[in-house]
Amino acid sequence: MRDVRRWRRHYNRSARSYDWKEFLWSFLLGYSDRKERLRMVRRLRLKPGAALLEVSAGTGTNLLLAAPLLATDGRIVAQDISRGMLEECRAKLQRKGIAAEYAESDAAQLPFVDAAFDAVLSFGGVTMFGDRQRAIDEMARVAKPGARIVIGDIGLPAKRRSSPFGRGILLVNARYGEDPPLDMLPDGLTDLRLTWFRGETC
Ligand SMILES: C[S@@+](CC[C@H](N)C(=O)[O-])C[C@H]1O[C@@H](n2cnc3c(N)ncnc32)[C@H](O)[C@@H]1O
Repeated sequence: MRDVRRWRRHYNRSARSYDWKEFLWSFLLGYSDRKERLRMVRRLRLKPGAALLEVSAGTGTNLLLAAPLLATDGRIVAQDISRGMLEECRAKLQRKGIAAEYAESDAAQLPFVDAAFDAVLSFGGVTMFGDRQRAIDEMARVAKPGARIVIGDIGLPAKRRSSPFGRGILLVNARYGEDPPLDMLPDGLTDLRLTWFRGETC
């Protein structure tokens, strides 16, 4: 609960500056934010008409990139704990004429029925979730059998953590030192892949 309140407050306060900070961070680290997000979104192999959920969708930058792949009959749902971030997301998608649904909830309690989505994405929230295991179980629950699930967040490959770059970035944000939660994934997955991207910082 502490994490939920803390992050909700943090993102409600910083929602309006979030996109700028993301751009600046990618510039400093030397990768293209847009290209790296597209790489991730393509992993979902979205088809026209598909239903896509983004858990911890934030300001909706990934959904903006995903929308053209779903065509006009697709379903887009943005979920987040922060109302401020969802408001930014709604404004951004509306400016582009993209229809979406918005759900304000904790990732550990997704307000959707079982097997509702063809694809589930979550980027940038997993290391903040208070109950990470439950959030991952929830993503699996709301995904249809055979759906693709892409989960990403900040992190460094073990070998990079002791490099000067790794030590520096860990001083800025200790969450870069967390391991991908491979031990929390549900049974029965097929085609499981771990990929480093964003210049091996995610
Ligand atoms: C780093 S931002 C990532 C936003 C977006 N997915 C992106 O790719 O830019 C992290 C997001 O996770 C959300 N978040 C943090 N804890 C959460 C929780 N327990 N449930 C749902 N969302 C949460 C925050 O409100 C914030 O919007």
